[in-house]
Parts: sequence; structure tokens; C-alpha cells
Amino acid sequence: MTNPTLNFPTASGHQVLAAAGKKYLRPGGKIATEQLFQWASFNPGETVLELASSFGYSAISLAQRYHVKVLGIEKDPESVACARANIRAAGLENQIEIIEGDIFHLDKIPGKFNYVLAEAILTMQSPQGKAKVLAEIRNRLKPGGKFLSHELLARNKEAEIRADLAKVIRVNSTPLSEANWIDALSTAKLQVQEHLTGSMNLLNLKRILQEEGLLNTMQILWNILTQQSIRKRVLEMRHVFHKYRHELGYIIMCAVAE
Ligand SMILES: C[S@@+](CC[C@H](N)C(=O)[O-])C[C@H]1O[C@@H](n2cnc3c(N)ncnc32)[C@H](O)[C@@H]1O
Repeated sequence: MTNPTLNFPTASGHQVLAAAGKKYLRPGGKIATEQLFQWASFNPGETVLELASSFGYSAISLAQRYHVKVLGIEKDPESVACARANIRAAGLENQIEIIEGDIFHLDKIPGKFNYVLAEAILTMQSPQGKAKVLAEIRNRLKPGGKFLSHELLARNKEAEIRADLAKVIRVNSTPLSEANWIDALSTAKLQVQEHLTGSMNLLNLKRILQEEGLLNTMQILWNILTQQSIRKRVLEMRHVFHKYRHELGYIIMCAVAE
């Protein structure tokens, strides 16, 4: 249901899409996440630190399918509460912990991890912010640990896209080109071993149906049709995504700590 407390004119794009009922808030969707998981080749009992764990869907999928232990960090208290409820409902409290925290304070998290997963969160950081978080991700990985990254790609027109995206998603979104993403990781001593790019389908109906299922897609469409505040924001975002349909995409990268 629509979030009565959300200030729709100023809310970030992902908050508006979440309020519309979308569960997956990443440019390449579940399909891209699936490829990341395959590249990871998790072993039971290994540990994953997930940045921006949102409603906990990736953490639950990881714990259920690969029997890994997940520590998720999420800044938004409502998302944390929702994630904890989803984890309880899945009976995975022994395998997954979600803490309310900031990705800029990763140094406060004890221990090192076999994997760090970050989806649709570094894109929202400035170049300096990306560098700071990537450096700390490097420090949180065990030797030979893997960083699994899924972000928004701007094949070119980076500055123009940044300006237009900022207007419609209301956060400082700075997607990079393929070369610049790989460069940002290697500057942080995260050697990209595998990477893939593809088209951005966040608001593509066929993709929403595939990911969210028929019932939830109908709920999302109903919310957009009946809620003027949501519809206005979704159409604004869709307009810019369409304007840059040849430039915007997703990138997934699997990198190893040097
Ligand atoms: C675009 S959503 C992506 C969520 C999830 N990773 C996914 O792929 O569906 C970004 C998430 O990052 C969270 N977030 C934004 N800034 C953060 C920060 N500084 N520290 C922790 N979480 C943050 C937001 O609350 C939101 O849940």
C-alpha cells in the first residue's frame, strides 16, 4: 500500500517505486543478480556482507539457496523493519542479521567476509563517496574474498544523464561508463574478474511481470493508476529512462580483493 508518510514530491526514486509496491529496485533486475550469484559460487557457511539490503530479498535468497550467513546494512528504518519481518517469516533469523546503519561506516563492522554484495547503491554516491566505500569494501573482504557489484551504467553522456537523473530521482545519481566503473574498482584494489552489461529495464512492464509476478505487478499498476503522486514521479522517471534508452544500462562485476 502507498506509504502515507512519504513526501512524494521530494522522495528518492527508489522510495517512490517501493511505495508503488516494487520489490526489486536495481537496474538489471533479478536476472543480473542471478548472474552475480553464479560468478560468486558460494559455499555453505561462508559469510556475505550486503550493503543497502533494502527489504532483505537478496539476503533471503542467498541464505535459502546457498546456506551462507548474511549481514545486511540498511539506512532506512522502515526497510530494516520490513526486512526483519520477511526474514522471520522465512525462518532465517539464525542465518541473516540486518542492522540499521550507513555504508559510510563499514569500518565499524567487526570481522571480514568471504563476499561483499552491493546492488544499486554505489551509483547514488559521488565519485569521492564511491572511492571511500570501495576502499572500505576492500578492507572488509578476507584475502581472496569477492566483491559482487550491480550498478547503473551510462555508456556515454555521463554528465548529461547525471543532471537529468538528479531531477527525476532526487538523489545524486552518478552512473559511470563500463571503463570508469572497472577503473573505480581497480583503484580500490578490487580486480574485476568477470563483468557484464545489459539494458536498463527498471520500468519495463515485461521485466516487472517476470520479476514481481502477476499479482504484485497488478498491484503496482493499480497504485500508479490510482495514486496521482506516484504516477507523476513514475512517468517523470520513465521519460528520462526512455530519453537515454541507448545510453543507460546495468553493469554487474565480480571482483577479487588484491
Ligand atoms: C536503489 S535501493 C537498492 C536496494 C537493494 N540493494 C536492491 O537492489 O533492491 C537503495 C537502498 O539503499 C539504501 N541506502 C541509501 N543510502 C544508504 C546508506 N548511506 N547506507 C545504507 N543504506 C543506504 C536505501 O534506503 C535503499 O534501500
